[in-house]
Amino acid sequence: MNNNTNENASQRGAFTSKLGVVMATAGSAVGLGNVWRFPTEVGQNGGAAFILIYLLCILLLGIPVMICEFVIGRHAHTSAKAAFAKLAKGKKWRLLGLNCVLSPFFVMSFYMVVAGWTLYYMLQALIGGLGGEVDHAAQFARFSTHSWWPVACAALFMFITHWVVSRGVQKGIERSSRLMMPMLLLIIAVMVVCSLSMPGTSEGLSFLLQPDFSKVDTLVVLSAIGQSFFSLSLGMGCLITYASYFGPDTNLTRTACSVGLMDTMVAVMCGFFIFPAVFSVPGVEPGAGPGLAFITLPNVFHLAFASVPVLGYVFTVLFYMLLMLAALTSTISLHETLTAYMVEQFSMTRSRAAMWVTGSVLTLCVLCAWSFGPLSELKVAGLTLFDLFDFITSNVLMPLGGIFICLFVGWRIDRQVVRSELSHHGRLHEGLFSLFMMLVRYVVPLAITAVFLQGLLWR
Ligand code: TRP
Repeated sequence: MNNNTNENASQRGAFTSKLGVVMATAGSAVGLGNVWRFPTEVGQNGGAAFILIYLLCILLLGIPVMICEFVIGRHAHTSAKAAFAKLAKGKKWRLLGLNCVLSPFFVMSFYMVVAGWTLYYMLQALIGGLGGEVDHAAQFARFSTHSWWPVACAALFMFITHWVVSRGVQKGIERSSRLMMPMLLLIIAVMVVCSLSMPGTSEGLSFLLQPDFSKVDTLVVLSAIGQSFFSLSLGMGCLITYASYFGPDTNLTRTACSVGLMDTMVAVMCGFFIFPAVFSVPGVEPGAGPGLAFITLPNVFHLAFASVPVLGYVFTVLFYMLLMLAALTSTISLHETLTAYMVEQFSMTRSRAAMWVTGSVLTLCVLCAWSFGPLSELKVAGLTLFDLFDFITSNVLMPLGGIFICLFVGWRIDRQVVRSELSHHGRLHEGLFSLFMMLVRYVVPLAITAVFLQGLLWR
C-alpha cells in the first residue's frame, strides 16, 4: 500500500489504483444479473425495444444513483450503515443504514443459491455431463430439488467468497477483480465471435437490433428500471462501501460512467451470443424464462454445434465459467458490505467478521436452497423463501433504498459537499451539476416511486 495513504485508510483498506477501482466496482455490477437475468428479460419483453429503454434507464436513473452512492461512501469514509449516521443526525436516516445491512443479507442468501448452481453446472460441463443425450429439464429438476447437492455447492461458493474477502480490500477484492474481470471479458469476446458463425445469427441479431415498440407497455418500462438497478448493484449500500475505499483523486462521475458502460456492454454482449445460439435451434423460444441458463442453453449449445461436438463442449464449459466468474465478483461485494459493517460496528478483526457473515448467510441460504426441494411447501404470502427474499429485496427494499439515497444526497447533504466530491475538488461545469441535482432531487425519486408502486400493486 502507498506510504502516503493516511492511517485511517490503511486500517480500513483502500483500492490502490484507478484500474483496481473500476474493476472492483464493475465486478460488483457485472453478475448473474447480466448473464442470466438480462437475456431472460430481453427475451420476455420483446428484444431491441426493451434494450433501448434499458439504456435510457441506465443513463438517466442508474448512473445518477450510482454517483450518489459514491458521494456518500467517499465522503463518510465508513461502511454503508455508519455512513448515514455520520452524515446526518436525524434518526430517520438510520433506517436507511439498516437497509444497507438487511438487504445485502437477504440478496446474498438467494443469490448464493444460484451461484452454487453455476458451480455445479461448471463441474458437470467439465466432466461432460451436459451432453446431448441428457434431458436437461429433468436434470435441472433433479439437481435443484435435491436436499444436499445445491446446499453443498452454495456452501463451497460461499467459502471461496469468504476466502477472498478475508484477505482484505487490496489483496483480496482488488487483486481478484483485476484478475477475474479481464478473464470474464475475454470469455465473452470468444463466445460472441464463435456464435456469430452459427446458422441463427441473422435472426438473433435482428431480434436484438430491430425494436418492436408494439410490445412496450408500462410493465416493460418497469422491468427495465428494476433490471438496471439490480444490474448496477444499486440501492443497498454495496457501492457506498466500495466508494469508501476510493482515494481522494478518484473521479466519481467518470468511474460511474465507466462502470455503467462496462456493465451494459457485458449484458448486451451476452445477448449477442445467447440469441444467435437460441435462434439456431428450431423450436426454441427466446423468452424461455429463468430456466434459460440451466435448461435451454446447455441443450442449445449442444445442438447448435452438433457437427463439431468439441466446440459444443468448449462453449458450454466457457459459458458456465463465465456465469461463475460473474457471480463471484458480485458475491464478494455483497459479502464485503456486510463484513465492513461488522468490523466497524463490533470492532472485530476482518477475518472474524467475515466468519460471522459467512455463518449467518449460510444458514439463511440453506433455507433458500431447500425452498426448491424439501421446503417447497413452506410458503409465506404464497411465495417460497427463495422467491420471498427475491421479491422483498428487488421489489421493495432496493427501490426504497434508491429513492432515499437520492433524496439524502439531493436534500440532506450540504450542496457544497456534493459539489466538491463531484468536482473532485476542482472545477465543475455549473450546468452539469444543476442537471445532476435536478435528476437526483426530482426525476429519479419520482420515477422509482412509480416503479415501486406498480411493482407492489401488480403482484
Ligand atoms: N449487480 C449484481 C448482478 O448484476 C448483483 C448484485 C451485487 C447486487 N451486489 C448487489 C444487486 C447489490 C443489488 C444490490 O448480478
